[in-house]
Amino acid sequence: MNRQYYTEIPSPCFVQEENKLIKNLEILKYVRENANVQILVALKGYAFWHSFPLIKQYLDGASASSLFEAKLIYEEMGVKAHTYCPAYLKEDFTEISDISKHLTFNSLTQWEQFKNSIKTSVSCGLRINPEYSEIEVPIYNPAVEGSRLGMVKSVIPDKLPVGIEGLLFHVMCEQDSYVLERVLQKVKERFHEQLLQVKWLNMGGGHWITDKNYDVNHLINVLNHFHQDYPHLQLIMEPGEAIGLGTGFLLSTVQDIVDNNGIKTAILDVSFSAHMPDTLEMPYKPSVRDASTEPTNSPYKYRLGGISCLAGDYMSEYGFDSPLQIGDQLIFEDMIHYTMVKTTLFNGVKHPSIGVINKKGTFELLRKIPYEFYKYRLS
Ligand SMILES: Cc1ncc(COP(=O)(O)O)c(C=O)c1O
Repeated sequence: MNRQYYTEIPSPCFVQEENKLIKNLEILKYVRENANVQILVALKGYAFWHSFPLIKQYLDGASASSLFEAKLIYEEMGVKAHTYCPAYLKEDFTEISDISKHLTFNSLTQWEQFKNSIKTSVSCGLRINPEYSEIEVPIYNPAVEGSRLGMVKSVIPDKLPVGIEGLLFHVMCEQDSYVLERVLQKVKERFHEQLLQVKWLNMGGGHWITDKNYDVNHLINVLNHFHQDYPHLQLIMEPGEAIGLGTGFLLSTVQDIVDNNGIKTAILDVSFSAHMPDTLEMPYKPSVRDASTEPTNSPYKYRLGGISCLAGDYMSEYGFDSPLQIGDQLIFEDMIHYTMVKTTLFNGVKHPSIGVINKKGTFELLRKIPYEFYKYRLS
């Protein structure tokens, strides 16, 4: 088969498909309108900022977990962030509080340290840890025993300090509204007293609202039901992944094919380690267009090899219906959320360009990453 999918796009390149983003945003808007919930985009999971003006038309803003994220939100979305950091840095605090609408603290020590330097226009909260999560991968589970993230019931006072107006929890990852329902039950059981004292509850991220199997109407019921118990609360969600889910790809090109003792590897112009780090960290095997991730019955099988020198920078065999050729394009699907945000310049490998296929179906190149980006993060 001919594997030249997009001859107008330089390789490698992260490419967002705007129409797919709009589809996700329509779903999120439907939830906002039917469940009286504010929905933010969490930059740690989705930071394709070219689309921020579009996102602003559909959502209620964005959440940050660092000064740089808050700045990007302020500059490119033109709004103040809902910010939570595991620890605020003294030298950053004035700047971060000037461009934040909400500031959530991870501990009372941090709150005590900064409470007198916060402007009255900022609404402050505490992160709680409900000590309940159904996430099975420990490095993604903020409720594992001994977690540093959020205050557990035994350390949070029954009477919240004056000035605390909200609570935030985040204990989900790629999960559905049935998991949220059980999490909310635990939050109610453990933090009922505190919920009565605040104005807002931020339910973090991990809500896979735009996944094809997600039951959006069940989510709306869960939220409306919870609201009946706490009608005074402004509910907030801050998914990252759900905004960018399925909205674009990473285009790559086969550079060489090596065969060592019968194991064929197609070496690409991208790196799993540098450009798709979640594939090694989570780990997971990404979908490749027109290829099978379970190649048992496929006539042609190849490992896909990254361009870095890391021995483990490869994916186990994929199946193809015809032999791969040097120059073939391979398309890694669904690469516009976390993995794109987490890329590095490890090994000095060329970073993919960034582009968008706009609403009219035309490709626009947004950025090429020059050598200077590599040089000036080192010294
Ligand atoms: C506090 C907080 N909010 C929101 C998110 C976004 O989660 P997701 O991208 O899975 O929706 C995260 C992810 O780690 C988080 O830690």
